Amino acid sequence: MGKVAIIGSGLVGATSAFTLAASSSITEIVLIDINKNKALGDALDISHGIPLMKPVDVYAGDYSDAKGADIIIITAGASQKPGESRLDLVKKNTEIFKGMLPKLLSANDEAVYLIVTNPVDILTYITYKISDLPWGRVLGSGTVLDSSRFRYLLSKHCNIDPRNIHGYIIGEHGDSELAAWSLTNIAGISFQEYCSSICNKNCKPHFKEDVVQDVRNAAYKIIEKKGATYYAVAMAVKRIVEAITRDERSILTVSSPLNGLYGIWDVALSFPSIVGKNGVENILELPLSQEEKKSFQNSAEIMANVIKELRI
Ligand code: LAC
Repeated sequence: MGKVAIIGSGLVGATSAFTLAASSSITEIVLIDINKNKALGDALDISHGIPLMKPVDVYAGDYSDAKGADIIIITAGASQKPGESRLDLVKKNTEIFKGMLPKLLSANDEAVYLIVTNPVDILTYITYKISDLPWGRVLGSGTVLDSSRFRYLLSKHCNIDPRNIHGYIIGEHGDSELAAWSLTNIAGISFQEYCSSICNKNCKPHFKEDVVQDVRNAAYKIIEKKGATYYAVAMAVKRIVEAITRDERSILTVSSPLNGLYGIWDVALSFPSIVGKNGVENILELPLSQEEKKSFQNSAEIMANVIKELRI
């Protein structure tokens, strides 16, 4: 495994290309954008640094150049403006996907399709439906970024290396997402127990809700300040690509079409899942608390209503 095609050389696509090139985890990256000059410029800009890192072939191409890619990463589409939610983009980006997918699929229907464009859960589901690709081979970056934001915030709060904090943001990559607190642990001890028996900082009672709100509002806050988010999402893309190309079987909160988890079908949402060479290998049926389960089902209902209105 060594080739990825990135569709859309905007801020997220180009930063993902740079992050992947610098990571030495793949050997070939093709950037595909309707603005060919933008893709050409980004490919050249990244390529000029190659003598300073491990060899990787970075170039601009057309849809047909997605042929032979192991992973097709879709970042193309309109992006959030200040004050807009991810769901506000749904109609525009659904139309873009409907136009683009047949061309991509005719070039390559053997790759893993990784969707990054927002609203990522809806577009992951649409890609799965339109493409007829086998389950698992269409996944979305989902809440991999949100889980990273969550672990970062907890690590700052608890003054612990984030790699020792296991925690998951699940559901929609958007306003209805939730933290699976019941699964969150530090060094194998539940977060609750760590707080009360080890850390003992007497945190404010609304501390947990504040952290989740900060995760939910992270993108709004960044977009308000600088117009877009792209660095951390590119790292999420790199993490997922590595899990696939190296067949790591890592547990990541990617988005994928649910097939009965908590009684939910026909929507894509994020839940801790095993990610390996075939994309999503399995969604883990982890136990949630009653309250978390209800919030997760609520997130699914919101997604189902959006999909119903799209009539795809
Ligand atoms: C964010 C975008 C990628 O959360 O949705 O930063």
